[in-house]
Amino acid sequence: MGKIKFLINHSEIETDAHPSTVLLDFIRKEAHFHGTKEVCKEGDCGACTVLVGEKINGEIKYHSIASCLTPIGDIQGKHVVTVEGVNKAEGLNPIQDEFLKEGASQCGFCTPGFILSLTNFFINSPELSYQDALDAMDGNICRCTGYMSIKRAAKHLSKKYLPLLQKNNNRLSQLVEWEILPPYFNDIPAKLDALSTTKVTKEQDTTLIGGGTDLFVQRADDLLEEKVVFSSQDKNLSFIKEENNKIVLGGNTTVTEIRESAIIQKYFPDLKKHTDLISSTIIRNRASIAGNLVNASPIGDISIFLLALNAELTIDGKNGLRNINLKNFYSGYKTFDLQKDEVIKEISFEIPDKNTYFSFEKVSKRTYLDIASANTALQIKINGKNIIQAHVSGGGVWPYPLYLAKTSDFLKDKAVTSQNLKAAADILQTEIAPIDDVRGKKEYKALLLKQLFFAHFINIFPQMIKMEDLV
Ligand SMILES: Cc1cc2nc3c(=O)[nH]c(=O)nc-3n(C[C@H](O)[C@H](O)[C@H](O)COP(=O)(O)OP(=O)(O)OC[C@H]3O[C@@H](n4cnc5c(N)ncnc54)[C@H](O)[C@@H]3O)c2cc1C
Ligand code: FES
Ligand code: FES
Repeated sequence: MGKIKFLINHSEIETDAHPSTVLLDFIRKEAHFHGTKEVCKEGDCGACTVLVGEKINGEIKYHSIASCLTPIGDIQGKHVVTVEGVNKAEGLNPIQDEFLKEGASQCGFCTPGFILSLTNFFINSPELSYQDALDAMDGNICRCTGYMSIKRAAKHLSKKYLPLLQKNNNRLSQLVEWEILPPYFNDIPAKLDALSTTKVTKEQDTTLIGGGTDLFVQRADDLLEEKVVFSSQDKNLSFIKEENNKIVLGGNTTVTEIRESAIIQKYFPDLKKHTDLISSTIIRNRASIAGNLVNASPIGDISIFLLALNAELTIDGKNGLRNINLKNFYSGYKTFDLQKDEVIKEISFEIPDKNTYFSFEKVSKRTYLDIASANTALQIKINGKNIIQAHVSGGGVWPYPLYLAKTSDFLKDKAVTSQNLKAAADILQTEIAPIDDVRGKKEYKALLLKQLFFAHFINIFPQMIKMEDLV
């Protein structure tokens, strides 16, 4: 791919390093910014959090990411901000100062990550609310403070700056005024214009990297030996639009982009609650939909969502475009209908009408930042009490994310009654074959999926379905 060019803080970088070189390694070993820390190297702790800014439709957009799972080829033409890049010329910036005042840094190993996650909050939170500040730090772990001092610092910051927020002004220049960002941020858009970007072409022998949040956990070293391409460099793979009564998503659309999309929020009011259960901010900012589908984990949350939405994939390859329903995509553990040269270009599903409801349930050992023991989604269309159409999916109960075809068929044309739901749950049990593993025994997962299936109906139809009628 030739030389990779990007900015770290004020400095322009031009490197011959392999595009799969992990950004964290480059920052520490080549650029010598040692504030960015290495701990888990698996996206779990947030010690390596940095900001990455890129120009999208002429505007610069920053997000917090885990630099330990991000390859440098992906940041071609972008701006990386480490904790050194938010320092003031003298003294501490307001976030650092608040951490000091509250004793929110003890050994200090996690602190740069927290500072940058809170900087991400200042850049992206619409309201600068305290809850948004907490959400922004949901991927950062601290072993020393017990979090109360960090929460106090976040509370004071949101309280102090919310009244000063002028909503229609350019947020970045406001943050420069408040000294949360240093003045050099004003020059970054022009500097990025001078850096070239590449175009994605996937061939037989190249590995396509989306967000890298699965690939770089599984085989970061192997990727240093492979030819790679980066789907984030192709803006045609990242979009959300309404078209012909469908919602269409680009394959590289991230979980954060879905979460922040006004289009999706309009039809899925519980979206924030559902996506809070998927990884953390620094992972959601990178994790793509197509990556989730192709990783083919039996408990992939996005795959479970999309199966219940009866989604269709548009796949691009050397023989042109083809469509396939997601229900027919998987055929076995990590086996699916995708050739080596093919890319998932789009994912689409029907826009739900006012009689259509969606529900998602997930249980994991930890509520947040954990993968599911079992997960399930339901989309149901009703007329009064009668079910016109149902699509149910289940994860953690089969070698791949499962569309529960018999259960979905059974529900069609039935009334929403506890008797029918109990009969449907019996059918559901015949469609699954969970295995014992670290996330639970097979009997536990089978029971869990049944209870989560009932939970969909209790949540959607609280007047019609009561927990006590289902036991
Ligand atoms: C700390 C942590 C927590 C996580 N928590 C969750 C969780 O709660 N729920 C969950 O479901 N997942 C979770 N994940 C897994 C991961 O974030 C998701 O599966 C994510 O959606 C993967 O997307 P990606 O873009 O990062 O994929 P990548 O790692 O870039 O790619 C994965 C696979 O998809 C292929 N691919 C990528 N884009 C395309 C495309 N457009 N067309 C064809 N193939 C493509 C790649 O070649 C690769 O084979 C977690 C991961 C981490 C590190
Ligand atoms: S080192 Fe732990 S998230 Fe990157
Ligand atoms: S201050 Fe030590 S890990 Fe957070």
